[in-house]
Amino acid sequence: MSNTPVITIDGPSATGKGTIASLVAKELGYRLLDSGALYRVLALAACEEGIDLEDGAAIAGMAPGLKIEFPGNGRVSLGGRDVSSEIRTGTMDESASRVAALPEVRQVLLPVQHGFRSPPGLVAEGRDMGAVVFPGAKYKFFLTASPEIRASRRYRQLLDRGLGARLPDLLRDLRARDRRDEQRSISPLRPADRAIEIDTSQLTIVQVVDQIMQKRRQGGG
Ligand code: C5P
Repeated sequence: MSNTPVITIDGPSATGKGTIASLVAKELGYRLLDSGALYRVLALAACEEGIDLEDGAAIAGMAPGLKIEFPGNGRVSLGGRDVSSEIRTGTMDESASRVAALPEVRQVLLPVQHGFRSPPGLVAEGRDMGAVVFPGAKYKFFLTASPEIRASRRYRQLLDRGLGARLPDLLRDLRARDRRDEQRSISPLRPADRAIEIDTSQLTIVQVVDQIMQKRRQGGG
């Protein structure tokens, strides 16, 4: 519904976007769209089908037949199978960002993303939510943090999950992914018009959520 309020939260990886968006959605009782998960699931499905990750037409062609669901608590399922962990490996970080650079794939995912807009409201999180997918959103946020801080956040996340990682490798991969996301010709990563930028480098998750809620209150809900 076009008058259903949308809050967009965009920015590079490891800025805390995912956690922040889900807390804002919870606080407002809004629906949540994790758009990165859509690109990740498409990348996983393409790998499993043996489709070349450069083949935009084939990947876009496969998309409408996929049953992608978000059953809650950050879980993601593909055809009824829980793929939440599989789509969040280092390999899928890289594959999702390659698939996301394909114009046909971005096009086919547009109506899928618009379908998430339903009352009482939507919090949409990703790279181009405010600039391309929901340009008319009333509140748009763009979160940033230095690459070093983002890499160290990712490092701690992986350790918490019992996975090994090397900080210099994480920093290198994160920079490469930023470059690809920022330099692609379609929907490059950059703040949308009217987006409020928040540098999260020295802020906790709760402080960022508070800032977002405060801006929303100041703007009249
Ligand atoms: O946010 P997340 O890290 O899960 O996103 C995975 C990849 O999907 C990103 O590196 C980016 O290339 C792509 N993406 C995108 N547009 C979005 C969300 C994610 O291009 N709206």
